[in-house]
Amino acid sequence: MTMTINPLDSALEAWLSNNDQRLHDDLFEFLRIPSVSANSAHKADVARAADWVHAHLARLGFTTETIATPGHPVVLGEWRKAPKGAPTVLVYGHYDVQPAEPLELWTSPAFEPTIRDGNIYARGSVDDKGQLWLHIAAIEAHLAARGTLPVNLIVLAEGEEEVGSDNLAPFIEQHRARLQCEAVVISDSTMFAPGIPSILSSLRGLAYFEINVTGPNSDLHSGMYGGAVVNPATALARIIASFHDANGKVAIPGFYDAVRPFPDAVRAQMKQLPFDELDFKKQLAVDALGGEPGYTTLEKLWTRPTCEVNGLLSGYTGEGAKTVLPGTSMAKVSCRLVPDQDPETTRTLVEAHVRAAAPAGVTVTVTALHGGHPWRAELEGPVFDAAARALATAFGREPVIIGEGGSIPVVNDFARILKAPVLLVGFGLPGENAHAPDEWISQDNFRRGMRAIAALWDEMAPK
Ligand code: BES
Ligand code: ZN
Repeated sequence: MTMTINPLDSALEAWLSNNDQRLHDDLFEFLRIPSVSANSAHKADVARAADWVHAHLARLGFTTETIATPGHPVVLGEWRKAPKGAPTVLVYGHYDVQPAEPLELWTSPAFEPTIRDGNIYARGSVDDKGQLWLHIAAIEAHLAARGTLPVNLIVLAEGEEEVGSDNLAPFIEQHRARLQCEAVVISDSTMFAPGIPSILSSLRGLAYFEINVTGPNSDLHSGMYGGAVVNPATALARIIASFHDANGKVAIPGFYDAVRPFPDAVRAQMKQLPFDELDFKKQLAVDALGGEPGYTTLEKLWTRPTCEVNGLLSGYTGEGAKTVLPGTSMAKVSCRLVPDQDPETTRTLVEAHVRAAAPAGVTVTVTALHGGHPWRAELEGPVFDAAARALATAFGREPVIIGEGGSIPVVNDFARILKAPVLLVGFGLPGENAHAPDEWISQDNFRRGMRAIAALWDEMAPK
């Protein structure tokens, strides 16, 4: 496929370059709000971030509402004055962020955005405030430079993505009529590599658990009791070890039953991407990779389900030695899911497996934390074509199609409830440190992202 590349409309380009500093300043203000959704101590900050988004949409002339949910609020902005026949597009983003800890590992403070080497460092810079903001900026470019927009727009910003979006599916159901649209557009993901714009073809789903093991009624002297009393740490280690076979395949009975293989065409496309395994290992400072045999690394990351330990806790972990037989142990475990696996069934399988693997002498409980369905895109149609042209306008080359190992639980809900195609075009980059210290977004991608999205509205307008 070769395509002609349309330049960005000159009025939009002029407005975006003339306002570059202000658009950065606004983003910095947004990034300074520590809207950590997981931590109740930050509830007021999360609310402040919602207000911030609300104010910026209202300022553009959007009919804007902040709607309470049992958790953090949803900000909904609507602009429906496009010419007759224009499509309605729903833009989704999240204004909440992951916790910034461990703070001491940040080069500059997590909530004090700082530019170094052309990157903007701050918690939420790429995930997802920077990407939500570039959408709002692209809207402003149209309204300021031309006084109008070529499509009707609904902006839906939520504050619970990083804690599983539990309240969003019911919200979409409840407001289904109002949210009706021809396409959903989301920027909350990464590009394949610098300079290579990318459209997402899939996301993995998630089923997250906490496993608690209780043994004796208190910690015990490991000399007085060890050898006769079942050790909860060892019991948990056995349970965890039973999740995989010796080759790295998940060994939970039934785990793969619902997996629908990715189409050969998609796998062939993945094989063509310029992925350098040596470089990947070097970036992570590891000398070997693991996982299921029989798949390439990209296939393992994008098309195969996993079961990973996310955290472990038991016994004495302080300085020096303490001879103790711990009374309890705990693990956080999450499975990434692919179509057509589902979080509820996975939960049943994991619970049954853990129960069977638990030795006598300890009590084991499995508590389901959040979950989300996997998603696979329709990669054809006018929305997809418009996105390919808009990305080419901003990046000077056509996009590649990529998969994604991470999860955005609401994507499947949008597709299912609104029955509209969902387009995922992200502007993050590999190594962006999302969820980690020193998170960043490239300034170049921030700028090109605004232009890509501004171009997208023109490309989606009826000709
Ligand atoms: N933006 C990410 C998802 C993502 C990461 C997409 C990398 C593409 C590339 C999103 O904010 C996220 O982190 N989601 C969580 C979901 C969970 C908390 C329910 C995830 O994937 O762990
Ligand atoms: Zn995230």
